[in-house]
Amino acid sequence: TTRETVFQITPKTDAVSPEERAALLANPGFGRVFSDHMAVVTYTEGKGWHTPQILPRQPLVLDPAASVLHYAQEIFEGMKAYRAPNGDAQLFRPDANARRFRKSAERMAMAEVPEELFLDAVNQLVKIDAGWIPDPEVGTLYLRPFMIATEAALGVKPASEYKFIVIACAAGEYFSKDAGPVSVWVEERTVRASRGGTGEAKCGGNYAASLTAQQEAKEHGCHQVLFLDAAERKWIEEMGGMNIMAVLDDGTLQTPPLEGTILPGITRDSLLTLARDKGLTVKEEPYAIDQLYADAKSGRLRELFACGTAAVVTPIGTLKSAEGTHVINGQTGDVTADLRKTLCDIQFGRAPDPHGWVHKV
Ligand code: COI
Repeated sequence: TTRETVFQITPKTDAVSPEERAALLANPGFGRVFSDHMAVVTYTEGKGWHTPQILPRQPLVLDPAASVLHYAQEIFEGMKAYRAPNGDAQLFRPDANARRFRKSAERMAMAEVPEELFLDAVNQLVKIDAGWIPDPEVGTLYLRPFMIATEAALGVKPASEYKFIVIACAAGEYFSKDAGPVSVWVEERTVRASRGGTGEAKCGGNYAASLTAQQEAKEHGCHQVLFLDAAERKWIEEMGGMNIMAVLDDGTLQTPPLEGTILPGITRDSLLTLARDKGLTVKEEPYAIDQLYADAKSGRLRELFACGTAAVVTPIGTLKSAEGTHVINGQTGDVTADLRKTLCDIQFGRAPDPHGWVHKV
C-alpha cells in the first residue's frame, strides 16, 4: 500500500455564507456553481509530481507559450460525489477514472498521474468541499480532474511540465429541459474521431471537434448530436459528450463496441454490467444508422438512451437528420427507467452495492 499524499491546505477565507450557498445549491444547473477549493499538483521532468496543494479556487497563471495553449496537451475526467442517506459523501468507481486518466495521458504523451495520487487529490477536495454536495433530490458534486501542459516552449514535443488540477461544481440535470426524452441530431458531415485518432482518450480536443455539430444540432432544435463512424458514415458511434445504447424488442441492450474511436464510458460499462445482472442480452456490436431508422419504424427498436457521468441515463425521443425526423419513443422507456434507477440507487447509497463500486470519502 502506498502512503497517502499529504496536501498542503490553504483554506478559502472569504467563502460565501451558508445561506448564499444553500440558495446556489437549490438549483445549480450544470457546470456553473463552483466549490471553494481546488487541488493542484505540479510535475517537473526529473523531479516527478510534487507540491500537492489544496488552494482557494482561483485563476491560473500561465505563460502565454504554455504548450496546452498551442498544441492542446490536455486531458480530463468526469466523476461525481454523492450524498448518501446517512449524510456521508461517496464516490462511484473512482479507480476507473484514475485508470482512464492514466491511459488518456499516455495517448497524449503527457506525464502519467499515479492512480493513488489521483484518488488522494479527489478525496481531499471532496472532504474540504463536502458542504457543496447538493441534496440527493437536487443532484451531486461534479468533479473535474484535468491536466494541462504548462511548459513555455513552442517546439512541437511533449512538455516537460504539467499541472494536475481538480475542481468541483454542484450539478443538477445536464439537460436543461422539462423531464422527458431529448432530441438528437444525426451528424453526417463532420466526424468526432477516426481509427488511430484520439477518440478513446478523454482529451479536450475531442470535445472541441464536436462543437460545430453541436451548434448544428441546436439550430435544428436538438439537444445533442450523434456522430457516425469516420470511414463510412454508416455506423452510430458516440454523442457529443456521452455514449448511446439501444433497447430492442427481444430484450437486447445494444451499444457500439470499443474499437478506439469511442470513449470507454464508466457509466456505459456499469450499465452493461447491471443489464447482464438483470438477465438482459448485452451486445457490444456495431449498429448501422439506416438499420436503426428501419427498426424505429418497425418497432424493433423500443428505446434509445444516452449515458454518461454528466448525462446519467437520458432517454432519446427523436432522431433528426437532413432527411427527416425519426420518432423512437415519446416517453421514457421501461428498461431505460429501470437501468437509471438501479444505477442511481447504488450511486446514492440507497441500494446494496454488489460490485464494490462505491467508495466512501
Ligand atoms: C461527463 O459525462 O462527465 C463528461 O465528461 C462529459 C462532458 C462533456 C460533460
